[in-house]
Amino acid sequence: MNTLPEHIAIIMDGNGRWAKQQGFLTRIKGHERGVLALRAATTGAAELGIKYLTVYAFSSENWNRPKPEINALMRILVKSIKKELKTLNNNNIRLNAIGDLSALPKDCQDELQEVMHATAGNDHMVLTLALSYGSRQEITQAVQSLAQQVASGQLKPEDIDQAAIAGALYTADMPDPDLVIRTSGEQRVSNFLLWQISYAELVFLNVLWPDFSKEHLIQAIAQFQGRERRLGKTSEQLK
Ligand code: IPE
Ligand code: IPE
Ligand code: MG
Repeated sequence: MNTLPEHIAIIMDGNGRWAKQQGFLTRIKGHERGVLALRAATTGAAELGIKYLTVYAFSSENWNRPKPEINALMRILVKSIKKELKTLNNNNIRLNAIGDLSALPKDCQDELQEVMHATAGNDHMVLTLALSYGSRQEITQAVQSLAQQVASGQLKPEDIDQAAIAGALYTADMPDPDLVIRTSGEQRVSNFLLWQISYAELVFLNVLWPDFSKEHLIQAIAQFQGRERRLGKTSEQLK
């Protein structure tokens, strides 16, 4: 199987451990270097012809981190979104964001809206930042929105099918990820795209996120291509 995944999702993990390993006194340096790794992953994915790249940048649970780390992450976010506009346009990449964006600081929301607007016409690849994102929260708001449509008579309960649920998620206009990559060696999904990754291939890499390069992306895609995606069928049926 040599087909490329259409949609890759990445859990960018290991910034704090990288900073510690390098001897930095705070975890912040790891987050700063993580931005460079994200640039490498983004341009690398676009060069390879990936259509959708979705990255987990800040989870709903990450709000429980120490306040100084949260503030630093938000500052890095605002600065980077602004700075990466040129790279996005040069590579014909559209920026998108999913999550409870209203929980982000105002300057961060403004910067996001501005760059999403400025890249809206780009159509080579969609880069989606999952920010203040939690899958259970996403599913909860989807259920609420469907229940409201039922209550107002717009929707019949028996019309709630898988497509209706998928359509009520933040990812309504995207195909499901084919491949999920998590760096840092941790092997868990940490509340990321639970509905959407039900049949994704999972690849866990023993590299800390700031050290991630296009080579690691290629390595993960090669692992994906070596897998047999049976989707419930038998191996013989696929032949
Ligand atoms: C991932 O790196 C970045 C975010 C979750 C924002 P971590 O900050 O989780 O780094 P580790 O896992 O503690 O090394
Ligand atoms: C997951 O990483 C969230 C992001 C990468 C943004 P965490 O480091 O927060 O995950 P846990 O807490 O180790 O599961
Ligand atoms: Mg972590």
